[in-house]
Amino acid sequence: MTEPYTDREDTEADVVDELSSDHREALALLDRLANSTDADQRRDLADTVIAEVVRHAVAEEMYVYPAMREHVPDGDQAVEHDIEEHKQLEGTMKQLEAVDPSEPRFDSLVREMTEQLRHHAYDEETEQFPRLRERIPRDELVRMREKVETAKKLAPTRPHPSAPNSELFHKLAGPGVGMVDRLRDRLTHRSTA
Ligand SMILES: [Fe+2]
Ligand SMILES: [Fe+2]
Repeated sequence: MTEPYTDREDTEADVVDELSSDHREALALLDRLANSTDADQRRDLADTVIAEVVRHAVAEEMYVYPAMREHVPDGDQAVEHDIEEHKQLEGTMKQLEAVDPSEPRFDSLVREMTEQLRHHAYDEETEQFPRLRERIPRDELVRMREKVETAKKLAPTRPHPSAPNSELFHKLAGPGVGMVDRLRDRLTHRSTA
C-alpha cells in the first residue's frame, strides 16, 4: 500500500538522487584526472575515483538490485545487465590501479573507464531509475537512500587528493594486493555485518 507522501519526504533526496549524484561526482573526478599532468595527483585521483565507484557499485548491488528484482517488470534482466557492466568497469579499474600514471596505458584506461561509467550512468538514469520511481513509494526510496549513505560511511579510509590519509589507505588496501577486490570485500562484509 502506498502511503500519501508527506511534505518532508518530498523535499528529501531519495536513492535515485543519491546514486545519480555519485555518477556525476565520479565523472567529474575522471575529468579532473584526464586534465591533470601531475603524477602524484593523477595517482590520488585515480585511487579516489576507483574507491568511489566500488562503493557506489556495492551500494547498488546491496540495495537497488533487490528492489529492482522485486518491483520492476523484467527487473531480473536489468540486474543481470548491470552486473555485467559492473564487472567490465571493475576489470578496467583493476588494470588502472596497477598502471603507473606516467605510462600511456594509464590514459587509455582512464578514457575506457570514463566511457564505461558514462554508459552505466546513462542506462541507469534513463531506464532503471525512472522505473524504480514509478514502482516504489517515495518514502521507501528515501529509506533506501539512507541505507546507501550508511553503507558508504562504513567504507574504509580512502585516498583523497593531497590528503594525508592517502598513505594510510595504501597500507590498508595493501600495495599490489588488489584495491578493487579488497574494497569490495570490506564494504560487503562491513555493511552486512
Ligand atoms: Fe549499476
Ligand atoms: Fe550506478
